[in-house]
Amino acid sequence: GKVAVVMGGWSAEREVSLMSGQQIFDSLTSAGVDAHAVDAGRDIAAVLSDGGFDRAFLILHGRGGEDGMVQGALELAGIPYTGSGVLASALSMDKWRAKGLVSLKGIATPEAFEVFTLEEAEQAASQIGFPVVIKPTLEGSSIGVAMVNQPQQLEPAFLEARRYGPVLVEKRMLGIEVTAGILGQEALPLVSMKGADEFYDYKAKYIADNTVYQCPVDLPESVATSIQETALDIFRVLGCRGWGRVDFMLDEAGVAHFIECNTAPGMTSHSLVPIAARQAGMDFPTLCLQILSDTLD
Ligand code: DAL
Ligand code: MG
Repeated sequence: GKVAVVMGGWSAEREVSLMSGQQIFDSLTSAGVDAHAVDAGRDIAAVLSDGGFDRAFLILHGRGGEDGMVQGALELAGIPYTGSGVLASALSMDKWRAKGLVSLKGIATPEAFEVFTLEEAEQAASQIGFPVVIKPTLEGSSIGVAMVNQPQQLEPAFLEARRYGPVLVEKRMLGIEVTAGILGQEALPLVSMKGADEFYDYKAKYIADNTVYQCPVDLPESVATSIQETALDIFRVLGCRGWGRVDFMLDEAGVAHFIECNTAPGMTSHSLVPIAARQAGMDFPTLCLQILSDTLD
């Protein structure tokens, strides 16, 4: 059948999605799949129906594409798609509400408050204690994220994050960042990463060549295994399916804290799920075919 690789869209992560989508499109095409690259607009469901597509490989990142909206439109149109459904996509995009559900399950996540005004942000930061991370509740790729080490840095960070909607003030963890890709029912090998600057930001993710990735990670095997199991638990708690990636920060004692779950994680040449899949012996085209095969019931 005819497969639409649905990419681009209208979110702040559009450019990242186009990079992810191009790689997937090239790989599926070279594997003999009848794939077509489709840049999503708000009429995506009609475009796919009229185009006679059998299914969609969804690789839209961020709002409007990774948050359940396009998933809902495709459900209405009766077009099967890769990855999580409407509710799990929406919950995973909302970092604040995802943290709430995950912590109900007894899984660690850094103390945080969702705020809408500078005054609320100041109250939250003083209750949590510096350093804190300021981030939009509903964005990806570190867009609008800032590390705030002292009170004077709070206002500019808040105003920047606020451009994207509700804001999270979250306790900053000082250990390494690790992530678990999920494919089907399994967690892939963990990856840890460190940008050359203060944190693993947009530049470190997509532009810089000096970001350090470790896979396998430099953690005792029992610790790594328990983080993988926690990632699978989180995936289930949020109702996710198919594939995704769960991000954690370790604290100084080495305890993993849930940061967020991505239901359509990056698939660029710099991205983490492809690195993890490679460590598991799976090349990029095989990874794409496996994700795609999951839309067929
Ligand atoms: N939001 C980006 C694409 C990621 O999580 O990989
Ligand atoms: Mg994300």
